[in-house]
Amino acid sequence: AEVVILENKAAAGALVADEIVRLIDSVADPVLGLATGSTPLPVYEALRERLAGHDVSHLRGFALDEYVGIDPAHPESYRSVIMREVIEPLGLDPELIRVPNGAIESIEHAGADYEEAIAAAGGVDLQILGIGTDGHIGFNEPGSSFASSTRVKTLTERTREDNARFFDSIDDVPRHCVTQGLGTILRARHLVLLAFGEGKARAVAAAVEGPVTALLPASAIQLHPHVTVVLDEAAASELK
Ligand code: F6R
Repeated sequence: AEVVILENKAAAGALVADEIVRLIDSVADPVLGLATGSTPLPVYEALRERLAGHDVSHLRGFALDEYVGIDPAHPESYRSVIMREVIEPLGLDPELIRVPNGAIESIEHAGADYEEAIAAAGGVDLQILGIGTDGHIGFNEPGSSFASSTRVKTLTERTREDNARFFDSIDDVPRHCVTQGLGTILRARHLVLLAFGEGKARAVAAAVEGPVTALLPASAIQLHPHVTVVLDEAAASELK
């Protein structure tokens, strides 16, 4: 992987946003892989200025994951988050931006439907990734198969605690999710993993320099030929 260490989140967001603008300008049907959580926000922020004046009417997007059983209208459903942070501010076509369907009624088909939609769009050109403190990417928690496709997973207690900040209490954090698999993520043509802050330093070092193991799902990026890891100094502090 190419590892880029920058002064702060704003610089990291600008670097990744520039790469996305190049993609949008150079590919006829660009497909962006979106992440939620705190990490990608500086990228979306930087894209606001940069995309002004660009034609984004054809931009397709696929989010990594969604909570199971959450009301899509709940402000913390990933559908709502993607609407608020990405679709509305960047002026994208909501019809072209997909988030996995976490509704209980259709959960059996949610994974296969999503894989089909990604394939029909021609695959993901650039996938934005954050990393969990336990080394997850998407919501592929430790033990996830490197060959996995989009499917229902159980969130670890650690992840539920990490995400409790978005909810009134930890009891409100859903227990299950639909997430792109590690196999799905590895099929994207370019992976861009971002991480900020000391809390991510160990997971980042293990992902980039440690053994490739299902116990640290993000280590799967070592199997991919085109990966860019964008860090601030704190997140880079455990790298050798
Ligand atoms: C979000 C996702 C997760 C997050 C990770 C880090 O769509 O798939 O892997 O990227 O949990 O979350 P933050 O960025 O909030 O620290």
